[in-house]
Amino acid sequence: MTETVLLVGGGGREHAIARAVADDCALYACASNRNPGIRRLADGFETIDETDAAAVADYATAVGADLAVIGPESALESGVADALDEAGVYAFGPRAEEARLETDKAYQREFMDEAGVPGCPDYAVFDDIEAACEHIDAYDGDLAVKPAGLTGGKGVKVIGDQVTAEEAKAYLRDSDYDRVVLEERLVGEEFTVQAFVANGELRTTPAVQDHKRAYEGDEGPNTGGMGSYTDTGLSLPFMAEGDYDAAVDVLEAVVDALPDYKGVLYGQFMLTDAGPKVVEFNARFGDPEAMNTLPVLETPFLDVLTAARDGDDLPELAFSGEATVCKYAVPEGYPTDPDAGAEVAVDEESVGDALLYYASVDEREDGLYTTTSRSFAVVGRGDSIAAAEAQAEDALAAAGDRVRIRHDIGKADLVQRRIDHMAELRE
Ligand code: AMP
Ligand code: GLY
Repeated sequence: MTETVLLVGGGGREHAIARAVADDCALYACASNRNPGIRRLADGFETIDETDAAAVADYATAVGADLAVIGPESALESGVADALDEAGVYAFGPRAEEARLETDKAYQREFMDEAGVPGCPDYAVFDDIEAACEHIDAYDGDLAVKPAGLTGGKGVKVIGDQVTAEEAKAYLRDSDYDRVVLEERLVGEEFTVQAFVANGELRTTPAVQDHKRAYEGDEGPNTGGMGSYTDTGLSLPFMAEGDYDAAVDVLEAVVDALPDYKGVLYGQFMLTDAGPKVVEFNARFGDPEAMNTLPVLETPFLDVLTAARDGDDLPELAFSGEATVCKYAVPEGYPTDPDAGAEVAVDEESVGDALLYYASVDEREDGLYTTTSRSFAVVGRGDSIAAAEAQAEDALAAAGDRVRIRHDIGKADLVQRRIDHMAELRE
């Protein structure tokens, strides 16, 4: 029987999900933007605001969807999984209650405490901005300042890294945040592990390192992610034996405490001198991290989805063993003052053996143009990070000068800096 799958969301991450299932099912998709890559793969596409839970559920019913995959956190927060489940369409994505693991950073820390999930930094939650500012003054050490709600990865300020204590207080006083988490600043190298979760069990995918800062050399403001890489195995070059397993232990503890959780559980870790600590959890695939992990997944992703829905054991996952390097092309000026309207000069044919994923592009009669968000990404694969990086760069040769790319991602120099950093911290 051919399964009918509904994909919710229209970014690069969702283009990667679409490519992972399109050959094995009848695929329908809905999103607020018209992603040309997803539209080409799908049997049907509808422009629907992905936070409009009732409209998504109606569309799922109308196309006869057997199951749905939800990409963006905004959809989870607004109860799209709940609405789909209620409409009888199995949603691979947590209900709003469980998605609070991502959508409410205060809950996330309190949950870790109560459930005894390892790797929680010292933290305090404030409903009063002046009390938070007093805590900043009184605290011995640097703090990370985090609005409790969703900010697209751009709301966190780290004292001693991006801002001074005075700037952090000014930031809070200028904001309209009504709840903030202040937590110890973790020092180390960040990595992500994403797990497929259903029926109380999980299957994990290779560790990924994303690059949040806008400019080369990890300078500039935080973004949604400028690019990312994986190595040939599950671990990354700067990680020591046991670090990946320690991260998996954290994810397992979450699943043990939330037996009804279903969908992707994304752990963002800081590898410190004392091992992996939890920066945050997300309740969905990462963007860009989905573009690293899904192309090397040899187990059909549809088999994971159907096993999840049917209450079966999730399949053991097989990976190709290739390294991957993903690089986003973003509008000039992104994220603070993005310049939209540049023609997108690459397409799925011109990238050769690399993979092209569309994110936010504006489709006009005469071609594709950038918007104010991340435009597209390319993913290179190879038998080393260096080979994957070279393939990604070849594909980007034609990208033109009106998009910005972090060419340093996946290059030997930057990877070596990560290794040296961890070696220094672990001395
Ligand atoms: P989040 O939205 O929680 O992922 O935070 C965005 C970014 O802020 C993370 O990827 C880290 O680079 C940084 N960050 C968050 N929490 C901490 C922390 N406790 N210590 C150091 N950096 C942090
Ligand atoms: N790459 C970070 C995220 O998806 O939140």
